[in-house]
Amino acid sequence: MSDKRKFSTNAVHAGTKHIEGAVNTPIFQSSTYQLTDERYAGWAAGAQHTLLYARLSSVNSEAVVEKICALEGAEDGELFASGMAAVSTTLMGLLSQGDHIVASPDVYGGTYGLMTEELPRFGISTTMADMQDPASYEAAITESTKMLYIETITNPVIKICDIEAMSEIAKRHDLLLVIDNTFASPWACQPITMGADLVIHSTTKYLGGHSDIIGGAVVGRADLIAAMFMKKVHFGGSPDPHNCYLLERGIRTLAARMPIHCSNAAEIAIRLEAHNKVDLVHHPSLESHQDYSVAKRMIPKGTGMIAFTVKGGDDSALKFMRGLDMIFEATSLGGVESLVECPFNSSHMGIPEDVRIAAGLGPGFVRMSIGIEDVEDIWNDISTALSTV
Ligand SMILES: Cc1ncc(COP(=O)(O)O)c(C=O)c1O
Repeated sequence: MSDKRKFSTNAVHAGTKHIEGAVNTPIFQSSTYQLTDERYAGWAAGAQHTLLYARLSSVNSEAVVEKICALEGAEDGELFASGMAAVSTTLMGLLSQGDHIVASPDVYGGTYGLMTEELPRFGISTTMADMQDPASYEAAITESTKMLYIETITNPVIKICDIEAMSEIAKRHDLLLVIDNTFASPWACQPITMGADLVIHSTTKYLGGHSDIIGGAVVGRADLIAAMFMKKVHFGGSPDPHNCYLLERGIRTLAARMPIHCSNAAEIAIRLEAHNKVDLVHHPSLESHQDYSVAKRMIPKGTGMIAFTVKGGDDSALKFMRGLDMIFEATSLGGVESLVECPFNSSHMGIPEDVRIAAGLGPGFVRMSIGIEDVEDIWNDISTALSTV
């Protein structure tokens, strides 16, 4: 399904269905489709990508799958009703009782909960290693291991994962390498080109780009996607056509939005690092970043995500956050507007404090998703709020 055109052209054109000469894929708000001989044949052949019933696929989901595949360089894909539906269908669909995963404690909180609270009930175990350290992943591999699970950029500490090194380990041990690429977006990183088997997105974030949908996607090897298709159908976490329409509209401007997110975040990182009320700024554009050289290889264009510690602990971080005027205190990321959260009372609330601290989420930790507003307005808001601390 991948297209030879350049990234921004694919973001606009790949997959878009010009039905009746429409410039955009029209919203096909229909739960079911007329059964024709051709569709019966598609059904008999496995039903994947056959327009039968919108839990399986729809005109709008087909358009988006083709677009994301073109952007990620993937053979095939499936869409989901949320990022967590994408994660859970991947893990529960491809793994069985007795299988083992190697992951990391600083995966997204929902993924951590799935791995530690839900999967063990089905006999699937996870060992937590360090995403920054491929050797720790290799050391955690057992005879039952089937999958290495990583995130391109960890949430919320913004560590950068060496995908090439992980891929080399996965191939040597004949394991699946699954990468959540949500924080980078395919504009900043294309893990399949570095050896990943499957790439997951919470399309709620940069791909959707406007904080108006919840969605997920998995793209990658065609054989794995085919194996997952029936699991999606059985588990039922499929997106509806209108959701897919909004996602397609968001992706069309991905290549225009991402450079602004990234350059704004890089500038804010420099200013925060120089601020006397701030400690430890985490952004891969900073030479002080712990993974600076890995980041130059993995995500040279950067990310709009930034994290830092407000001196004085969680009370100071809360005071800073509540002193912001334009920047919304809200969980989530990747929309055109800047958002802020303290992970200890939001996205990572469910993770035990000792695990949080060991993962680098010390007192005063703040995560920001830098939007595409004017960088001076973003900085005015941040510096005014810091002055209240
Ligand atoms: C890295 C990452 N993966 C997956 C998810 C889950 O996505 P969703 O909220 O769309 O279910 C999130 C949500 O914040 C996330 O940050």
